Amino acid sequence: MRARVLGLVALLASPALAADAPHDESSSPAIICSSCHVLHKSSGGSLTTTAGNANLCASCHNSRGPSFVLPDSVQADPGASGTSHRWDAPAVNAAMGAGMPLNPELATHLRDGKLQCSTCHDQHNGAALFKGTQHVSVVVGTPITRTAGGGTGTLVLNQPLAAANPKGYRVEVVVGGATGTATFRVSNDNGMTWYGWTGAWTGGAPNGRPTGASVALNDGANVTVTFSGTFAVGDRWNFYVSYPLLRMANDQGQMCETCHSERVQSSAYIESGADGTKLFSHPIGEALLKPYDRAPANILDCNGQTQTTGDGLSTNNLRLDSANTVRCMTCHFPHHTDSNSLTEDLR
Ligand code: HEC
Ligand code: HEC
Ligand code: HEC
Ligand code: HEC
Ligand code: HEC
Repeated sequence: MRARVLGLVALLASPALAADAPHDESSSPAIICSSCHVLHKSSGGSLTTTAGNANLCASCHNSRGPSFVLPDSVQADPGASGTSHRWDAPAVNAAMGAGMPLNPELATHLRDGKLQCSTCHDQHNGAALFKGTQHVSVVVGTPITRTAGGGTGTLVLNQPLAAANPKGYRVEVVVGGATGTATFRVSNDNGMTWYGWTGAWTGGAPNGRPTGASVALNDGANVTVTFSGTFAVGDRWNFYVSYPLLRMANDQGQMCETCHSERVQSSAYIESGADGTKLFSHPIGEALLKPYDRAPANILDCNGQTQTTGDGLSTNNLRLDSANTVRCMTCHFPHHTDSNSLTEDLR
């Protein structure tokens, strides 16, 4: 135990492992290693292990927006209740077609053979390593709530590009005035250090960048904002761009498959009568090419309506992967899935 604690102290001190936004200093209050790791009197070798680590995650997430709150009561009891994938059950469960994860990263992050939040999530670097569904902490295209300053102008985040890096931003006006005259600076660590403008974003430079439409922040051309109206010195906005911090890629359901390998079945396998042992499961990895399939652009949502123009609900849409094939995530979603297609789920 002592050696492991000392090992962790050494690792905590090393710069090799940083955490991605929002699990970093861009959050308010800032998140640092010791927000999650307590070096003394904590339980478990990784210092985070009371009841798996759902407790640790909940200790912050419970006070955040509703889509981050996952109490134990929402865990699935298949056929009976629940709106979220289980996070405390044994990894091996024949009835659910679940076995030991084939991916060693997941297999080494079980706790006593059981799932935990960090089996599927890499709360440190998962966003940078595996991206996935992009999340922004504000509504794209809608004025962001100002957290300081007395100006009347608005700041809007434009749709970030898919290549955007996980990053938290603080935008602050350094010279007031109308859009175009007013200038601003950017911080990625909650205001501890700043980037100013010298024709390029430059750490510590005193001058701001002119405000305007579609002005790029300090992630290449990936993240742009639009200023409108009149600003005062000290006007400030915070937001982040990130991803669900996964432990492996899941853009083609790979993470689902690594544990539920029994359910990885093609339509040819099912149509041939299968092996007589495995339970049948809906085929995956198939494009919609049969005469009875709708073209990918025309598939309906769970509610029988056109996905794009139908009921305006995004969480009842069946999502194909980028090659238009059916994957586990076409029909399933890991959290906040109430199976009621008439309401928008929290995401
Ligand atoms: C949001 C919470 C959180 C933050 C912030 C955080 N950690 Fe962790 N860390 C964890 C959890 C939870 C585990 C245990 C993961 C497991 O066992 O599955 C862990 C495990 C580790 C491990 C063991 C290796 C591993 O990945 O399991 C090291 C080393 C570590 N953290 C270092 C750091 C350092 C250094 C920082 C600061 C840059 C940091 N952590 C920030 C939650 C966090
Ligand atoms: C020290 C506080 C803290 C702890 C502990 C913590 N988180 Fe977070 N987490 C945050 C904050 C802050 C956000 C940003 C969302 C918000 O503002 O509420 C966030 C967001 C996330 C996101 C979503 C990122 C996105 O795409 O929007 C995931 C996934 C996540 N956390 C997973 C975890 C997991 C898994 C654990 C436990 C291993 C954990 N977190 C523990 C503070 C924490
Ligand atoms: C079986 C794997 C698995 C487990 C266990 C798991 N998650 Fe997730 N979680 C995912 C996947 C996959 C996504 C990304 C979904 C997507 O593509 O948007 C996700 C997304 C999230 C998000 C982003 C918001 C959302 O609903 O999409 C948060 C926050 C989160 N998980 C927190 C947690 C916490 C906290 C725990 C433990 C209490 C946990 N997760 C357990 C697989 C898991
Ligand atoms: C780390 C291994 C692991 C991963 C990754 C995983 N599952 Fe599971 N899954 C399980 C286990 C174990 C169970 C059985 C839980 C229990 O005892 O109820 C399960 C159960 C389920 C259930 C039944 C409801 C429930 O939670 O009990 C569904 C549906 C499901 N998984 C779908 C998915 C999908 C979709 C993905 C990909 C986002 C996924 N699983 C990823 C291990 C995993
Ligand atoms: C075409 C849609 C679809 C696809 C694709 C799909 N599922 Fe399901 N899955 C369902 C439905 C619907 C149910 C609920 C069946 C019920 O209530 O009896 C279900 C149930 C489950 C269950 C609960 C146990 C059971 O048999 O009822 C698990 C586990 C599961 N799916 C895992 C997966 C995994 C893993 C994948 C990807 C390999 C996947 N599913 C792909 C629609 C799908």
